Amino acid sequence: MHHVIEHTEHHVTVLDKLTYAGNRASLAGLPDARLTFVQGDIVDAALVDELVAAADAVVHYAAESHNDNSLDEPRPFVDTNVIGTFTLLEAARRHGTRFHHISTDEVYGDLELDDPARFTETTPYNPSSPYSSTKAGSDLLVRAWVRSFGVPATLSNCSNNYGPYQHVEKFIPRQITNVLRGERPKLYGAGRNVRDWIHADDHSAAVLTILEKGVIGETYLIGADGEKNNKEVVEMILTALGQPADAYDHVVDRPGHDLRYAIDSSKLRTELGWAPRFSDFEAGLAATIAWYRDNEAWWAPQKDATEARYRAQGQ
Ligand code: TYD
Repeated sequence: MHHVIEHTEHHVTVLDKLTYAGNRASLAGLPDARLTFVQGDIVDAALVDELVAAADAVVHYAAESHNDNSLDEPRPFVDTNVIGTFTLLEAARRHGTRFHHISTDEVYGDLELDDPARFTETTPYNPSSPYSSTKAGSDLLVRAWVRSFGVPATLSNCSNNYGPYQHVEKFIPRQITNVLRGERPKLYGAGRNVRDWIHADDHSAAVLTILEKGVIGETYLIGADGEKNNKEVVEMILTALGQPADAYDHVVDRPGHDLRYAIDSSKLRTELGWAPRFSDFEAGLAATIAWYRDNEAWWAPQKDATEARYRAQGQ
């Protein structure tokens, strides 16, 4: 959102349900003339139809996205991620609207730590969790709507994002805000699971590139060669905040916890000319820590409820 407003002239309509994960304050400061905010649900076919009819393009970021919540209560994941995507696709089909579907590398399952392979656009789907299976289902719907109905859609599957405005339930902001509050970071299991980190601004730039230059029907993997294990990341956060690197707790592991994700984004780089700008993870992390330190008013209202949910799961 911020990226599109800053880097293009487009008018943007944001449709957001404002669940626990949404925050109207994330749009504060953006110019009113460029932005229309609509609170609503992507499964509301009448509302979706009205908005899609008036749009030149739909970029579909709306999803229930948190694995831990999907293990606790899968239903909203099926509703929003599967039925919601279906509802949007049907509107795009009726109006012939350009559509871009945002998805995750988690649809490919996980890799061994010592596997030299990384995910590519041809890796078979093998999702592990209720979350990733609903995203896999939504991807397949988009592909079918391209082939069967000619919806002019592209897809992207991105690795783990970090940066400003990320909900405090996610790994990096949870640990940063724990330390800022004098609490210890919480590492699931031994912390050897690997995630491939990309700054959210790089993800946004990639999506805009695909929207402008992507080939209809194609999938593009988005990643920035940012593999780190969770223990390393926690240690970097603690060190950056002036704490001993081992001042964290091990907590109960996530059931079915994917071991490693890794993206090969060669197709996007060579065919569409995209490259990440945040190649230095430590610098991107330092800027993210500074943002959370400066914006406590944005995250503090969600912190207690998030930690209460984790405590109930022993995490
Ligand atoms: P998360 O941000 O939930 O993203 P995803 O599950 O989609 O990759 O978690 C990232 C990694 O961090 C994952 O391996 C689980 C782990 N993790 C912790 O170790 N502690 C935590 O408090 C959280 C939220 C996640």
